[in-house]
Amino acid sequence: MAKEKPVLLLIHGFPLDAGIWQAQRDALADLATVIAPDLRGFGASTLEVPAVLTMERFAEDLLQLLDERGVRKAVLCGLSMGGYVAMSFYERWPERVQGLLLCNTRSTADTEEGVEARKLTAKNAFDKGVDVIARGMLPELISARTKLERPELSAPLEAIMARQRADAVAAASLGMALRPDRTLLLRKVAVPTLVITGSADELMPLPTSEAMLQALPNGRLVVIPEVAHLSNLEAPEMFNGILREYLSALADA
Ligand code: MLT
Repeated sequence: MAKEKPVLLLIHGFPLDAGIWQAQRDALADLATVIAPDLRGFGASTLEVPAVLTMERFAEDLLQLLDERGVRKAVLCGLSMGGYVAMSFYERWPERVQGLLLCNTRSTADTEEGVEARKLTAKNAFDKGVDVIARGMLPELISARTKLERPELSAPLEAIMARQRADAVAAASLGMALRPDRTLLLRKVAVPTLVITGSADELMPLPTSEAMLQALPNGRLVVIPEVAHLSNLEAPEMFNGILREYLSALADA
């Protein structure tokens, strides 16, 4: 009997929405049932936004989504904040996770300085507007090579960020500041885990990915050259190739 395709749950970063997974949805549909939701408050989500959106809260929403769709187990692929959510999900419901893909993310908590920066972002979301935050973040998200070779990416990316709600941006920023260090959790991860990053990611420099790899009992690290923080968007063919290989190996296991 043919095996059922795995469910691939794509979890976007901050301050983004499921729009960033456009190049993955169709390209991976032959190997997996792809679900790419907008997290609470982002994109087209109509769920209520509390003052603080913790990673745990996002994970609870994803569990509910899987339950509603009758999905018993999923491969979680989280990028940046999406990675924080994926780790939080794994911590509580490891039995619902078939595999983990942690992209351009880290397992450590924020530094004190980082927490202050989150508070400022939350304030700025209301005081200055999300479009101002989007303009400020754009240069950090994609690499010099991507800017040169794919200049058409910048405007839609900025537009995705600028269309997010101020209350959700503020709440998620404050929520990220509360997340604990989950490096010890990684030691207990029992599913095949791929850490993916870009060699030019300054927001999550390579040592953060190497530290995650070290903690993982069954991990592998793939570094995409000259790509920064949004590896799936900057190098979709390479990113999809990595995911295809991972999903095929999972199907053969
Ligand atoms: C993201 O891309 O989700 C953010 O850079 C994560 C963060 O600010 O820690």
